[in-house]
Amino acid sequence: MSTILIKNAQVVNEGEIKAKDIFIKNGRIEQIAPVIDAKADREINAEGLHLLPGLIDDQVHFREPGLTYKADIATESRAAVAGGTTSFMEMPNTVPNALTQKLLQDKYDIGQDSSLANYSFFMGASNDNLDEMLKTNPRDVCGIKVFMGSSTGNMLVDSETALSNIFQNAPTLVATHCEDEATVRANFAAYKDKYGDQVTIDMHPLIRSEEACYLSSSKAVELARKYNTRLHILHISTGKETHLFQNDIPLEQKRITAEACVHHLWFSDQDYASKGNFIKWNPAVKTAADREEIWRAVLDGRIDVIATDHAPHTFEEKSEPYLQAPSGGPLVQHALLALLDKVAEGQLTLEQLVQKTAHNTARCFQVEQRGFIREGYWADLVLVDLNKPYAVTKENILSKCKWSPFEGHTFGSTIEHTIVSGNIAYSDGKIIEVGSGHRLLFDR
Ligand code: DOR
Repeated sequence: MSTILIKNAQVVNEGEIKAKDIFIKNGRIEQIAPVIDAKADREINAEGLHLLPGLIDDQVHFREPGLTYKADIATESRAAVAGGTTSFMEMPNTVPNALTQKLLQDKYDIGQDSSLANYSFFMGASNDNLDEMLKTNPRDVCGIKVFMGSSTGNMLVDSETALSNIFQNAPTLVATHCEDEATVRANFAAYKDKYGDQVTIDMHPLIRSEEACYLSSSKAVELARKYNTRLHILHISTGKETHLFQNDIPLEQKRITAEACVHHLWFSDQDYASKGNFIKWNPAVKTAADREEIWRAVLDGRIDVIATDHAPHTFEEKSEPYLQAPSGGPLVQHALLALLDKVAEGQLTLEQLVQKTAHNTARCFQVEQRGFIREGYWADLVLVDLNKPYAVTKENILSKCKWSPFEGHTFGSTIEHTIVSGNIAYSDGKIIEVGSGHRLLFDR
């Protein structure tokens, strides 16, 4: 494998920003020092650029197998790398659902063949796959995914016995989608009664309501406390839920952690008028006050991780009326750029961005030797220019669905180079086919 020398980067890592050189060899960071004068196969002059650990996205839907007309692992991993995400953890609501070890292995095989980024795939839980779920290897599978509310793919776990069994016996981290099904159904029925086919997108956060989220998230917390489960609650969308989480112990000691997603940090219900179903997500984007409280929890440590819930559907599907349009949208290519805009606005610091998108994700999942810029660690890195605008157009969207909720927006920063496991996989606006990323390993 070739060597790379990065000269004069502003390295953002572990709470500080310092000018440094980085030498990469055999996929790993061999040396970090103020000045390195080694010869390398490739030298990158990073004067004026910031070097960050590549993002680790702990929640994506890449749709393969089964839904590859929407997206596939090859296309979406390339979009991720172009966006500065070097590792992803992918969800089991593919077709067939990843509910057996064999079906899960099939996804790892596809990842090995076609993913440009490093990858891990969640094992799915259902009402009746306990035996298969128990066989999950904590060393090389990121976690068990439980849909405690139904979303795309009909993977609802609604049997109380199954939930207790999963929370009591899961061999590794349990990640949950929390929306109380009965509440969502009752709200939906009430809106249907009143408005018939005229139920519209602005009603989405009232149907998939605060109460639905809180009931389900608090139930997950209760179960985790009862069984001492390692619980990670995904995509917190309400201010009320943020009070379920602690910030008075180190992340490593937490048994319950939480994730916020870029869309819940960027959009609010005021955006439904202009964006319509293109910002229809489950859980729904809620009020500006919710968004503010989620930010507060991110910054004070009650929410540990920022990710995307990248979930592409086709433009045609999203153009259907509210009742037919599926929830979800593509985000991996623009997540870092969106967060860098928030840095420019003073919402968070660069150091906090790196902590929430890489360091903490690695700590939360015990990812082995990634997520930090440290000697001996894998070289998963992204170089960004904070002073070079980047306009999102249909032509530069790499996700297979070819649309983005950010289309037409100009971000203040540009991603210049992305390095995945020591290979330059994206540079100056182009994907470089350097072979597949690595399967993530976990220190557990
Ligand atoms: O909006 C969503 N879309 N939320 C989910 O939990 C699933 C996702 C999808 O797979 O489309």
